[in-house]
Amino acid sequence: MKILQPKQGNYQLQNYESAKNSFSWDDVRDVFTWSKTGKINIAYESIDRHVKEGRGAKKALLYSDPSRNETYTFEQLKKLTNQAAHMFRKLDVEKGDRVFIFMPRAPELYIALLGAIKMGAVVGPLFEAFMKDAVKSRLEDSEASVIVTTPELVSRIPVDELPHLKKIILVGDDVKTDEKHFSYSKEMKACTDDDSAIEWMDLEDGFILHYTSGSTGKPKGVYHVHQAMIQHYQTAKWVLDLREDDIYWCTADPGWVTGTSYGIFGPWLNGATNVIRGGRFSPDDWYDTIEKNNVTVWYSAPTAFRMLMSTPSDVIKKYDLSSIRHILSVGEPLNPEVVRWGWEVFKHRIHDTWWMTETGAMLICNYLSEPIKLGSMGKPFPGIEAAIIDNNGKKLPPNEMGNLAIKKGWPSQMRKIWKNDEKFNEYFAFEGWYVSGDTAYMDEDGYFWFQGRNDDLIMTAGERVGPFEIESKLVEHKAVAEAGVIGKPDEIRGHIIKAFVVLNPSHEYSEELEKEIKTFIKTELSAHAVPKEIEFTDKLPKTRSGKIMRRVLKAWELNEPAGDLSSMDD
Ligand code: WTA
Repeated sequence: MKILQPKQGNYQLQNYESAKNSFSWDDVRDVFTWSKTGKINIAYESIDRHVKEGRGAKKALLYSDPSRNETYTFEQLKKLTNQAAHMFRKLDVEKGDRVFIFMPRAPELYIALLGAIKMGAVVGPLFEAFMKDAVKSRLEDSEASVIVTTPELVSRIPVDELPHLKKIILVGDDVKTDEKHFSYSKEMKACTDDDSAIEWMDLEDGFILHYTSGSTGKPKGVYHVHQAMIQHYQTAKWVLDLREDDIYWCTADPGWVTGTSYGIFGPWLNGATNVIRGGRFSPDDWYDTIEKNNVTVWYSAPTAFRMLMSTPSDVIKKYDLSSIRHILSVGEPLNPEVVRWGWEVFKHRIHDTWWMTETGAMLICNYLSEPIKLGSMGKPFPGIEAAIIDNNGKKLPPNEMGNLAIKKGWPSQMRKIWKNDEKFNEYFAFEGWYVSGDTAYMDEDGYFWFQGRNDDLIMTAGERVGPFEIESKLVEHKAVAEAGVIGKPDEIRGHIIKAFVVLNPSHEYSEELEKEIKTFIKTELSAHAVPKEIEFTDKLPKTRSGKIMRRVLKAWELNEPAGDLSSMDD
């Protein structure tokens, strides 16, 4: 097995073993104001605290997209987020209300999100690619009262079907306003930037609701509380190795948890300069972002690395990428070839990290000062106990495969699934453990090795997609009688979405129909939920109770044995 040794350096986590033995989450609390007051606000600690401690003039945000190029200091962000907090107050948002943000990456997204948290709301970030149905189900479930969006996206919000949604704030020039629609820029201008908007929260008050997919049922609202910040802070310090002089770039969108925990809170709690880039992926733009901003620490995902890896090498030769000192990855298995590519191109190891929307922050990681076993996700963060357990909740010895589980009670653990206790309790079926749904094993040195999901959840291009939501949408199409959706292994994207579709007898296959079905998903649900492949078939494998057996579809697809078929209908 290949082991990559660490480079010498003065890292913030210099000795993993001793940190593991002496670390306590309680020690971290003292960094923040609330160790004295007992009250907390993650937005205050991320932004205002730096101003209070004399770092107000420091660059906090370097924003760029094809049409904008802007820099914001902590002082400026403090004022703008105060204004945003006052704006939400003025629009009758109260502590605990859900405020959703549905727009492409732009400074206003971050300002609105932090402003809403500052005044005590629970924010729900929505990925800009979501279409009407995806937006509706999330707003319906969360009973959000306010949403911040853009004139381009507003038509995807079915206001009339959402009785709880009272106000829509539009970010853009010359927006049309009425009793329900407000202009972000006008409302912001009318608000002061004083600190009185800060709502001091309890440790266990909620601040974010991230909707994420499971293998069954609708997307679920994963609810996190303010004190999650101590884990955002400490993991960003010890795993990302962030310091105040770092220029850090996390490529994830805040619609996904990586884009908030490590696109907003981790870096800003540590006072680092945060690079945010809008617009779509392109190798030239990405390398240019690193060069232009002198990015030192870079957090991205295997799919992005694979896409960069497959671009001709003369592209990368145009850029000076020597500012980079640390690279990390999350979201899918990090293939050894990618790590080798990273080493060749950047002369740095790529550090894998494992965690989930539900876990709120990193749990199993590789560290700058530790050897990396190529292909392993690394070792548990100090203060975290991870184990492999069997289907009865019993701990398994090293090298045996089983359920990857975490000893319950870490700071950034989700506190509930919104309005769904039953779903929440499913994660904690074994006394004392959170069960992740991933299968893995731990080797004799305590490194964890990812083996797969033990449910039908699909990770495509680093994004988490539930087969159920796509299947439900497919059968809404008039030509479709039944549908089963799986992830099919793919070299670049990890998995692609593949649908098996049974047509209604009144419809026949045609290329147009296939296109029409794909467009239907794209326009009703979202672009990233569109099946790349559709296979039309006469019948789907089902249990006697009528449940589609995705694992059999998967076995068909991969030409593998389908396993136990005793529950299958004839
Ligand atoms: C997968 C993303 C392999 C895993 C932060 C998990 C990974 C799911 C890794 C959560 C990794 C995450 N290696 N697989 N390093 N990190 N995953 O909620 O299956 O979007 O359960 O959170 O991504 O995806 P989510």
